[in-house]
Amino acid sequence: MPKDFSTMEDSNRSGNPSIHELIARLPLDRRTVLRGAGLASLLGVLHPLSGCASLATDKARLGFTAIPPGQTDALVVPPGYVAQVIARWGEPVGIAGNMPAFRVDASNSAEDQAAQLGMHHDGLAFFPLNGSSTHGLIALNHEYTDDGLLHPDGFAPMNAAKVKKSQNAHGLSVYEVKFNGAQWEMVRPSAYARRFTMDTPFAMSGPAAGHALLRTAADPQGRTTLGTLNNCASSATPWGTYLSGEENWMFYFGGGKDISAHHKRWGMNEKGLYAWERFDERFDATKTPNEANRFGWVVEVDPMDPSSTPIKRTALGRAAHEGAWVALTQDQRAVVYSGEDARFEYIYKFVSTGRMQPGGAKANRHLLDEGTLHVARFDANGQGQWLPLVHGQGPLTAANGFADQGEVLIKARQASDLLGATKMDRPEWLAIDKASRWVYCTLTNNSQRGAPGKPGVDAANPRANNSMGQIIRWREAGDFDGLSFEWNHLVLAGDPANERAEAKGNVKGDIFGCPDGLGFSPNGLLWIQTDAHATQMYKGEFARIGNNQMLACDTTTGEIRRFLTGPTNCEITGVAFTPDGRNLFISVQHPGETPTDRSDPQQPQKYSGWPDYQPGSRPRSANVVIRKIDGGVIGS
Ligand code: FEO
Ligand code: CA
Ligand code: CA
Repeated sequence: MPKDFSTMEDSNRSGNPSIHELIARLPLDRRTVLRGAGLASLLGVLHPLSGCASLATDKARLGFTAIPPGQTDALVVPPGYVAQVIARWGEPVGIAGNMPAFRVDASNSAEDQAAQLGMHHDGLAFFPLNGSSTHGLIALNHEYTDDGLLHPDGFAPMNAAKVKKSQNAHGLSVYEVKFNGAQWEMVRPSAYARRFTMDTPFAMSGPAAGHALLRTAADPQGRTTLGTLNNCASSATPWGTYLSGEENWMFYFGGGKDISAHHKRWGMNEKGLYAWERFDERFDATKTPNEANRFGWVVEVDPMDPSSTPIKRTALGRAAHEGAWVALTQDQRAVVYSGEDARFEYIYKFVSTGRMQPGGAKANRHLLDEGTLHVARFDANGQGQWLPLVHGQGPLTAANGFADQGEVLIKARQASDLLGATKMDRPEWLAIDKASRWVYCTLTNNSQRGAPGKPGVDAANPRANNSMGQIIRWREAGDFDGLSFEWNHLVLAGDPANERAEAKGNVKGDIFGCPDGLGFSPNGLLWIQTDAHATQMYKGEFARIGNNQMLACDTTTGEIRRFLTGPTNCEITGVAFTPDGRNLFISVQHPGETPTDRSDPQQPQKYSGWPDYQPGSRPRSANVVIRKIDGGVIGS
């Protein structure tokens, strides 16, 4: 999603008991890199965990040496570890007979880009081939583009060919990887290699499929849409498929001057951020008002079957889905958790009616099509409730604008407003500790919570002007399908050296801000990744925090230790381990991000040259695979 805070969505005007904010754009100061931040001296003055303390389970302990905050344009890992860059933006994904080489001046055509890895790598998952930890498939999201880097002449002027290239740099990739005994390499060509772009057909399934609000002139049945958009986080399901969240898709649409109340509630603006609506009518909501309803879904892909049609699962609700994560009840029903990364929006949980069957993707093709969607309410007493989004129940009636269940799902935000769900501080990734049943969620920031004229803080979102973010967790009463839960905070992010109380946090270990990516490794450590924007970093409350980073948390003690720091102005995102826990795949997104999210094509390396550092080249998002030099388990 565009991370420029001045343009981010601000659409929740509902009166339910949480808060709304506008985030003022931070000044575009030149970054000031602090040197010698004195990290070690900070470690002794930490606040205790906020009452949640530790969980008494038998977990692996942190075994690596912490690294200092990142201050250079390089990716840094602890002593004893090695990091290898693979799958850069623009490399051929590996489609036989169609493997155009990357041109460093960005002169590849739109057609080339459709066969190359897209831009702005985000969530990813590793799918072992035959159970292997040395050979498998990576499914990967390409969240958005920086058109200043994507075209030789940057963003202006735009034209149809450049819009098509931008569309082809979005979507998903599937590529094959193998460890050759010394390093990992992409297998090319590969029968599995695949790109999903804005031209790829996706089936709509579940209760809203075929709904009048999903029908367009190009698809009068409302059951097949083209493309997936702004895919952010992702996960692998227990039945072997890939789930990807369509996040802030509304920024690609132009709504004109007379935007409907429905589209307004979803944050649509008069103009899109990418000029797509000027060259592709699908994104002009004045001409195709229902096209936007066909985005905002969780997408399911079977990476093992290159001929399979990807599916948008409407039963999981429409949202600015960061991603979606699956737990199984003891009787094998699927419970899917998902948050939406937008200010003052919601956290959802879907419980399937059916049970997971043996037989992988094919045997579970309809598992996510029937069940009950709920939205979370976090109460001040440390308890919470899951509120069902079921047509005809409570306020979700025709009299209140919901004709049927399909409309409840398409307008899940409006339904959640009426149910009184808790408005959160930008829910990002979730991670499920299947042993203890605690579910963790990053709330990345919300810097005007509690600002004048806005509602105040609440128990789950307890800091005004929340620049740093927090990680919340809950445990259901009974099994994962429980309708009530207990909750607390794992950690409030921050730096205790900050003056402002709300920016100090209570980190037991290494300081960080803006948690985003999250995931458990096979040995039970919780991995946290950060996404502070170029407008925030290196100054003020972030002065000592350094480049975006990845940390590991031992949830038995609450200790958090810095494991990796990224190059300048990148985001670290995407967590995927091989089954043996000895290889970690991540994404480095938008190295060299500019304060406006638009690079200057005349100075593409103004902030970063990672990973190529070649004259005339451009910074490139890429995947990185990390191993221990001794072949051991990551984090041990
Ligand atoms: Fe795409 Fe929520 O970060
Ligand atoms: Ca994210
Ligand atoms: Ca983010």
